[in-house]
Amino acid sequence: MRDILPPSSAVWNQVEAAARRTFARFNYREIRTPVLEETALFARGVGEETDIVSKEMYTFEDRDGSSLTLRPENTASVLRAYIEHRLDQQPGLQKLYYMGPMFRRERPQKGRYRQFYQIGAEAIGSDSPAIDAEVIELVVAILHEVGIRDFELLINSVGSKESRSRYNDALRAELKEVAPRMCEDCQRRAETNPLRVLDCKNPQDQPIIEQLPSILDFLDENDRDHFRRVREFLDDRHIAYTVKPRLVRGLDYYARTTFEITHGALGAQNAILGGGRYDGLAEMLGSKVAAPGIGFSIGEDRLVMTVEEQETVRPRPLDLYIAPMGDAALRHCAVLAGDIRNLDVSVEIGTERKLKRMLELANKLEARYTLIVGDNEIVTQSYTLKDMASAQQETLTRQALLDRLRNIH
Ligand code: HAM
Repeated sequence: MRDILPPSSAVWNQVEAAARRTFARFNYREIRTPVLEETALFARGVGEETDIVSKEMYTFEDRDGSSLTLRPENTASVLRAYIEHRLDQQPGLQKLYYMGPMFRRERPQKGRYRQFYQIGAEAIGSDSPAIDAEVIELVVAILHEVGIRDFELLINSVGSKESRSRYNDALRAELKEVAPRMCEDCQRRAETNPLRVLDCKNPQDQPIIEQLPSILDFLDENDRDHFRRVREFLDDRHIAYTVKPRLVRGLDYYARTTFEITHGALGAQNAILGGGRYDGLAEMLGSKVAAPGIGFSIGEDRLVMTVEEQETVRPRPLDLYIAPMGDAALRHCAVLAGDIRNLDVSVEIGTERKLKRMLELANKLEARYTLIVGDNEIVTQSYTLKDMASAQQETLTRQALLDRLRNIH
C-alpha cells in the first residue's frame, strides 16, 4: 500500500475527470459501494478457486462473528447493490460507473499494489452483443480522452455455462496426462477448476498451456453467433482487436465476451484493464430475475503510470505568487488574494521576511506571475505585476489587476 503524492496526485485527478466526462457522454451514472462486504459475496461471486479468493483477500472476523472482506473488486458489490435496491425495476439498462480503492494481498511490484484503484463500469440488463461493443467503445474512448494511444485490445469468448462445462471436461481429460509436469497450483486446478490453468503465469508451464485445446472450438451455435456479432460491431466502429483464445481472465463469473487492454510501457504487469460479460452472476447472488451484464475495470495506478510515461498531462502550475513586505502588507495581501482566487486563479502568499527568499521561492514554484506588495502599494492601491517568463512588468490599479488576471487562462 502506498501514498500518492503531488505532483502525481494531479495526474490522478485529471485521469478521473477525463473518465467522468466520458462516462457522462455514454449516459453512465456513478455508484459508490462500501469497501467492506460480507466475505460470502466474493467467495460466491468471484469464485472459491480463483487466486483472488483463495489467497489474496483481506478477510477478518467482526466483533459479532461475521466474516468481512475488504473488496478485492467491485463487480460483485455492484450486483449486490443492484439486487438489494431492486434496480431491475428502473427503466432501461442500469449503466453504472465507480472509482475507488480495491484490496488484494498480492506480491507487490511495479504496477501491482495491495491497495490499488479501479475506474470501472457495469451495464446491467441486456445480453445484446451491441452492449458488449458499446462497453468496449466506452473504455477505448476513456483511454483516448486521457491521451493514451498505443494499446492493444485482446478479446475472446469463454462461452455460456454449458459450453464452458464441456470445455472444462475436455481440459480435465487433457490435463490428466500433462498436469504432473506442471506447477503445484496447476496440478490442483487441473482437478478443481481446469479453466484456471490457462491463467497460470509460471513460464515453465507456458509451452504446455499453448498445446491445450482452444475454448473457441467448444462454443455452441448461440455463443459463436454472439461473438461474431460483437466483432462485427467493433469492425463497424473501426476498433482494432486481436482474438486471444487463452484469455479466460482470473475471475469465475465470466460468460461469453472477455477482453483486456495491454500497453507496452507497463512491463510485466501490462494489463491496463480487464472486463467481460457475466450473465448468470446476478442469479448466483440471489436475484430472482435474470440480469445479464457486462463491464470492465481499469487499473487506475497503471493508467496513471502510462500517462506519466507519455507525459500527455501537465499539472496546472501556480498562477501567482504574492510577496508581501512587512506585517501590514501581509494583512492587505490576504484580502487581495481572496479576491484573486475568486477569479479561479491560483495564488500563494509568501510568509518569509526577506524579499529575496520569497522571489527565489516564486521561481522554484514556477509561478507564472509575481506581485510584490509593500507600504507604497497599499497607499497608492497600484500594483506591479511581473510576468516571470518574459520578465515584463505592468503597473496596474487594483481593478485593472483583477481584470488582467481574470483572463490569464
Ligand atoms: P481484474 O482483471 O481482476 O478484473 O482487474 C482489472 C484491472 O485492475 C487489471 O487489468 C489491472 O489493471 C488492475 N489491477 C488488478 N490487480 C491489481 C493490483 N494488485 N495492483 C494494481 N492494479 C491491479 C476485475 O477486477 C473485474 N471486476 C473487471 C470487470 C468489471 N469485469 C466485469 N466488470
